[in-house]
Amino acid sequence: MNTFDAKKLARPELLELTPYQSARRIGGRGDIWINANESPFNNSDLDKLNRYPECQPPALINAYADYSGVKPSQIIASRGADEAIELLIRTFCTPGKDTIASFGPTYGMYAISAATFNVGVTALSLTSDYQLPENWPAEIGDAKLVFICNPNNPTGTIISKQDIEKAIASAPQAIVVVDEAYIEFSPEYSVADLLSTYPNLVVLRTLSKAFALAGARCGFMLANEAIIDLVMLVIAPYPVPLPVSELATKALSSDGIKLMREQVASLNQQGERLTQVLQQIGAQVLTAKGNFALARFKNVTEIAQLLTDNGIVARAYKDPRLADAIRFSFASSAQTNKLIDVLLSSKNT
Ligand SMILES: Cc1ncc(COP(=O)(O)O)c(C=O)c1O
Repeated sequence: MNTFDAKKLARPELLELTPYQSARRIGGRGDIWINANESPFNNSDLDKLNRYPECQPPALINAYADYSGVKPSQIIASRGADEAIELLIRTFCTPGKDTIASFGPTYGMYAISAATFNVGVTALSLTSDYQLPENWPAEIGDAKLVFICNPNNPTGTIISKQDIEKAIASAPQAIVVVDEAYIEFSPEYSVADLLSTYPNLVVLRTLSKAFALAGARCGFMLANEAIIDLVMLVIAPYPVPLPVSELATKALSSDGIKLMREQVASLNQQGERLTQVLQQIGAQVLTAKGNFALARFKNVTEIAQLLTDNGIVARAYKDPRLADAIRFSFASSAQTNKLIDVLLSSKNT
């Protein structure tokens, strides 16, 4: 039997906390709203922009529930998945005492977010084929949160659903956070449907990648209600600006989802073209399951210089495990044409 109890993992002082009672949260009934020191003037085309928004706008939460197949009560909208990472750390980790665990090379914000809160990081390594190492549960000590990025940034590699499920079951006293920022590019690997089985699972999502809304800052945390209730104790009173929730709700309409899927298919095609050329010029390209490919080069300095000289800004890494690698985000067809021309010219230099 799973004895997971989210409250036992939470920072104990939070259990005593009464969250800030915003005017919006207290609410009321009537025609004259003078309870929040707002302006009575709306100077914008957006309805009610002079008013504070709902903490968790119902239209947005319902739209994400429809899209993800998760109940509205199991969703928190945040300022990007980055804020969701920070909220989890602030909810469950006591500064100077607790730790998180992650498997690298991976997305840097788990460790940075922990460090800004004086929370320790047990940084384990993925295996040489970018899978979870054997016996990792024995190595995470009392880590409260275990971050698994799938598809993984920056390698682009994937861990099977079966192995992720095994991981969730192997750490029943920790919260396993599966970061699915890139899942729209490999939707069959999502573990969101496992929320009903595992109370210690959290799934992170974002509209920054496949939904093309990085500038809007909108992400989601999916989890069971016990975890959601605790995170709601630390979230800001108004984390989702009104224009953002309107844009995001539109992106999650059936037309928006159709557009997203078309664009994902097109980006995957450009990714395949790029991968072929990278291989042709001798790079070792990892299986790309997100919207980017990580390529290892024998002559990485030369390639990096070639890209810079041609005004192409790709991502190189300081991590010694990635010293010979460059990450290429998939781009439009015209941009990919240009990139391919530049890469092929390296064969002639
Ligand atoms: C794996 C991963 N998680 C989360 C994020 C952050 O997403 P957001 O823009 O929603 O904060 C990124 C952004 O690059 C990412 O690569």
